[in-house]
Amino acid sequence: MVRHPARPPEASSATERAAWLRAELERANHAYYVLDQPDLPDAEYDKLFRELQQIESAHPDLITPDSPTQRVGGEASAGFEPVVHDVPMLSLNNGFADEDIAAFDKRVHETLGKAEGDQVDYACELKFDGLAISLRYVDGVFVQASTRGDGTTGENVTENVRTIRSLPLRLKGKRVPKVLDVRGEVLMFRRDFARMNERQREAGQKEFANPRNAAAGSLRQLDSKITAQRPLSFFAYGIGVLEGEPMPATHAELLDWYAEMGLPVNSERAVVKGAQGLLEFFRAVGEKRESLPYDIDGVVYKVNRRDEQDALGFVSRAPRFALAHKFPAQEALTKLLAIDVQVGRTGAITPVARLEPVFVGGATVTNATLHNEDEVRRKDIRIGDTVIVRRAGDVIPEVVSALLERRPEDAREFVMPTECPVCGSRIERLPDEAIARCTGGLFCPAQRKQALWHFAQRRALDIDGLGEKIIDQLVEQNLVRTPADLFNLGFATLAQLDRMADKSAQNLLDSLEKAKSTTLARFIYALGIRQVGESTAKDLARYFGSLDPIMDASIEQLLEVKDVGPIVAESIHQFFAEEHNRTVIEQLRAPGKVTWVEGPPAPKAPVGVLAGKTVVLTGTLPTLTRDAAKEMLEAAGAKVAGSVSKKTDYVVAGADAGSKLAKAEELGLPVLDEEGLHKLLEGHST
Ligand code: IVH
Repeated sequence: MVRHPARPPEASSATERAAWLRAELERANHAYYVLDQPDLPDAEYDKLFRELQQIESAHPDLITPDSPTQRVGGEASAGFEPVVHDVPMLSLNNGFADEDIAAFDKRVHETLGKAEGDQVDYACELKFDGLAISLRYVDGVFVQASTRGDGTTGENVTENVRTIRSLPLRLKGKRVPKVLDVRGEVLMFRRDFARMNERQREAGQKEFANPRNAAAGSLRQLDSKITAQRPLSFFAYGIGVLEGEPMPATHAELLDWYAEMGLPVNSERAVVKGAQGLLEFFRAVGEKRESLPYDIDGVVYKVNRRDEQDALGFVSRAPRFALAHKFPAQEALTKLLAIDVQVGRTGAITPVARLEPVFVGGATVTNATLHNEDEVRRKDIRIGDTVIVRRAGDVIPEVVSALLERRPEDAREFVMPTECPVCGSRIERLPDEAIARCTGGLFCPAQRKQALWHFAQRRALDIDGLGEKIIDQLVEQNLVRTPADLFNLGFATLAQLDRMADKSAQNLLDSLEKAKSTTLARFIYALGIRQVGESTAKDLARYFGSLDPIMDASIEQLLEVKDVGPIVAESIHQFFAEEHNRTVIEQLRAPGKVTWVEGPPAPKAPVGVLAGKTVVLTGTLPTLTRDAAKEMLEAAGAKVAGSVSKKTDYVVAGADAGSKLAKAEELGLPVLDEEGLHKLLEGHST
């Protein structure tokens, strides 16, 4: 942690005091926005900030362009002045297929005249999905920001960029150049984007389609006071003019130097060798992509050595030393042919778009979700429209928006059906709910099938061999109406099903037998109560200890359970109020059927030896599976988290533990092996 500069004597002059306040506020900004290690409480920051504002309003001559008070936005401007870039801002050549990458490496290798075994070093980084920007620092002070524009001339967006909190208004360190153009990307983190859109919605203002548009819109705001409220971020990745300091010998060193001066540099970067190294980087980033907090549309490879970059030079508007390796586009245009509705496990009716087939996100998409009736209205999507379809990673494809300018005259509005397409029961939508539901309950085969499928899930009763195809037959032949009926199935019934060999029938019977002994948490989860996921089921089981008190709990009692709010409590209460649900439960726990060990209700506090502790599991333990270790830890009151942070109390590492272990060591966290885990569970602290 950075130490606070010593506080100047109270009686110091306004000039000294203002200088100290500026330095302290900027230091705190850097700790908060760049290092992600806040070290000044918000209230304290605000106090110092106000003090600086007061000094500056009493002595306007003391206002400096790098003062943090200038980040809040100034006068609205009438337009943006053109800025001619001293060094043009180029674009990148793109590659998609592995062959494109191999060809790039081959060309570079040949052009540089390297010997056969002598591989090229490449600096690899992310391709951020934002806007390119050039920042000019003179004697370390931020003086100008300009957009890329056509590459030669951009627009002056200095006042807007000044509001970006993670950008230093003054560079730090001993090697600050006379003149420096930092090139990089302005973007908006997904979480910030979601929050901002929520605020826009609440204020009845226009929402943005994606973080990139939001970033672009914010940067081109004429009123920088508005930009100041938009949560923009920045990552540096390139250089324009440099005077007064030598050019670093490699791209990696350039970025290190940037970080040293306090500029935000992304940490997902590496230096690799040859085409093989490039492809490995691409794969690794591809796997992480969805978990990154911002959007990227690929990765960028740059020849690492500056002298080699210079030797390669440029073709038209793009450098020969760099290549963007892009992911397949996640959005595409297609035609909306029809809107049907689908019935979910809990009876939720979802409008589904039937599309003209389109290749997007690496697959052909013909159906996409429209979420619910209100979304269809809000986005004003009509049958016949040309729509933008998005398919990102493992997420279900969705219709993002319609192109109003391409709407045909005969486009039709969607009408929510009044009857369930599967069972014909009435569709009902409660006044304050977004979701319409089929009222057929277990009478509705759609809900029956999905209820059974959910019941058999690995994290529910874990009935191996009860797949979708079998469930379909069991329901369609009316052999199974509720999960309880599963346990009455005999060998002969199962063996006559389509595609069911005797061996599989026997295996399924064995799985059913095995599934009968379970845990209370799994049983509750398996019931498929709306709003009750695995973790709520565990909380309920831990809090009440046994099933009857849960079934009879009042809303108030349910609200006492950790993480259970009014909506969840209401849903649980309603579920057990339904007579047919109770009937099924009684059938399920009848003698010879499903059993679990009931326990006493949890003591109020503390819950278990590890109450309040956060533990991260990584690698393979010698005997325990990850799920088993997780269950044990949770039973002891610990929270099992997916990633290591300062908030982690313990890391349990097995064989082949990777980056999480490294991170734990870096943070100096206690790392345990399986034996250590057992000790910890017994109540020994390390
Ligand atoms: S370098 C001389 N690095 O991609 C090369 N660009 O197609 C100049 N971009 O306009 C660009 N992430 O907006 C570079 N790590 C990265 C990038 C990146 C995103 C964008 C940038 C540029 C476009 C070029």
